[in-house]
Amino acid sequence: MSAPAIAEWMAATQARIETALSLFLPATDSIPARLHDAMRYTTLGGGKRIRPLLAFAAGELTGATADTLDRIGCAVEMIHAYSLVHDDLPCMDNDVLRRGRPTCHVEFDEPTALLVGDSLQTLAFEVLASGPIADPSRQLEMIALLARASGSRGMAGGQAIDLESVGQERDQPQLELMHALKTGALIRAAVMLGALAGKHLSTDEHSSLDRFAKRAGLLFQVVDDILDCTANTATLGKTAGKDEVAEKPTYVRLLGLDAARSYAEELRRDALDTLSVFGERANRLTQLADFICHRQF
Ligand code: IPE
Ligand code: IPE
Ligand code: MG
Ligand code: MG
Ligand code: MG
Repeated sequence: MSAPAIAEWMAATQARIETALSLFLPATDSIPARLHDAMRYTTLGGGKRIRPLLAFAAGELTGATADTLDRIGCAVEMIHAYSLVHDDLPCMDNDVLRRGRPTCHVEFDEPTALLVGDSLQTLAFEVLASGPIADPSRQLEMIALLARASGSRGMAGGQAIDLESVGQERDQPQLELMHALKTGALIRAAVMLGALAGKHLSTDEHSSLDRFAKRAGLLFQVVDDILDCTANTATLGKTAGKDEVAEKPTYVRLLGLDAARSYAEELRRDALDTLSVFGERANRLTQLADFICHRQF
């Protein structure tokens, strides 16, 4: 698939997700209006939507329907949006800028930001549980998968390790675990949920896709670490250079910039190798892994 073709597909899928998110989110004029306004403010009109894109690309491997993928993509994106709102709070990373706009607690207030996180998290599960999902017998499995990826053995657990690692020396296995949880778990879930929404994969195909998903998730955070110290705030739409100031454990801190870049490239190649069993059916996943590795924001 050519580069323009993937760019067009990404833009069309992002627009589709934006519409679906807007429909699933409560209207601003419904009570409590301020909370609903804040939920819409943080979820709509920004973000790369990489997790829904991965779900759609994985769903193409198994012939999942677009309606089911809308639900899956929106559920994962809501968990992600909630994680960003909490990540930016003063008690966590204390960031004032997100997706080029003031963070939720700055635009609204801290209690509202807490409740936005609570509400987006539960709405994600409502969306996933309310159907229609193409194969209803898979619905419980999907809900359990997303719950595990979001909680203390997934994203929230990784965030806990991140906070307790500030100013500490960490070795590569420790950093890998932290990244695999705080960012990798949700990306892995997006891929596997997208695939689950269609026809069954063979055991070998399932393992290959899961390996891809794990590598892509780790790659995403390694690149996030690199961009924090190489890109500027205007391009990122979030404060650049914060990891060093905050003494965050990152791949750049552990390996240095050049080695972190080489590691990202190694992860990209490893991720792509695992897709070879799918042939051309995995073209979109391949292109997304390239995008994750080479993105500038
Ligand atoms: C940023 O995620 C936070 C991490 C998990 C590294 P994204 O880079 O996907 O943020 P948006 O959704 O595009 O704003
Ligand atoms: C955040 O990681 C991971 C989440 C679970 C939200 P970072 O703290 O590095 O994300 P940014 O750089 O603020 O987007
Ligand atoms: Mg953080
Ligand atoms: Mg942060
Ligand atoms: Mg970061």
